[in-house]
Amino acid sequence: MRIDIITVLPELLKSPFDASILKRAIEKKLVEVHLHNLRDFTVGNYKQVDDYQFGGGAGMVLMVEPIDKCISALKAERDYDEIIYMTPDGVTLNQQSANELSIKQNIMILCGHYKGVDQRIRDLHITREISIGDYVLSGGELAAAVLSDAIIRLLPGVLNDETSALTDTFQDGMLAPPVYTRPSNYKGMEVPKVLLSGNFKAIEQWRETMALERTKEKRPDLLE
Ligand code: ADE
Repeated sequence: MRIDIITVLPELLKSPFDASILKRAIEKKLVEVHLHNLRDFTVGNYKQVDDYQFGGGAGMVLMVEPIDKCISALKAERDYDEIIYMTPDGVTLNQQSANELSIKQNIMILCGHYKGVDQRIRDLHITREISIGDYVLSGGELAAAVLSDAIIRLLPGVLNDETSALTDTFQDGMLAPPVYTRPSNYKGMEVPKVLLSGNFKAIEQWRETMALERTKEKRPDLLE
């Protein structure tokens, strides 16, 4: 998989891809992540990427020309399965959409800023608009990092134990059951006996029961 991210703040996006699971996925060549600085696609000395909105109103808007130039240059090099715009008015990201995106080959992600991007970019190039929740961030960069993480950890070979993404919360429409590690007794708080029993059938049954109970209690909407 290849992910191209277009941003006015590439420095904000460097560290999420330079640690832990995402870093390893890139080193193992399971994914390529390319950051593109929108200012490299400006004309003139000021490297201007934003401007006042027509009709008045507070807040700047990312200009159509540099974004169109950047997206068009990338599109000329390869076909993209999705060109995603990160925006609070997009469709809320969930595990199902992360699963869908994880089987694509080439994905482009555009990060918005200020009041967003000129609508013509959305009309011209964008195939999907994604929000990471009903709150407004300062820009789309952190949202793009969240989306990329949700996708990349699903790629075959990225997680050490390939089955572990299958047992994630949400993966089967339920929350994951509680987990414990050593010590088995901490200040009198004991790990459920069944987990120490070595009886895998009983453990599986207990996990299913606990997953269902937890989902009923915390996220009954998932069971509807
Ligand atoms: N940009 C600003 N806020 C956002 C959000 N909640 N989701 C995606 N992109 C955003």
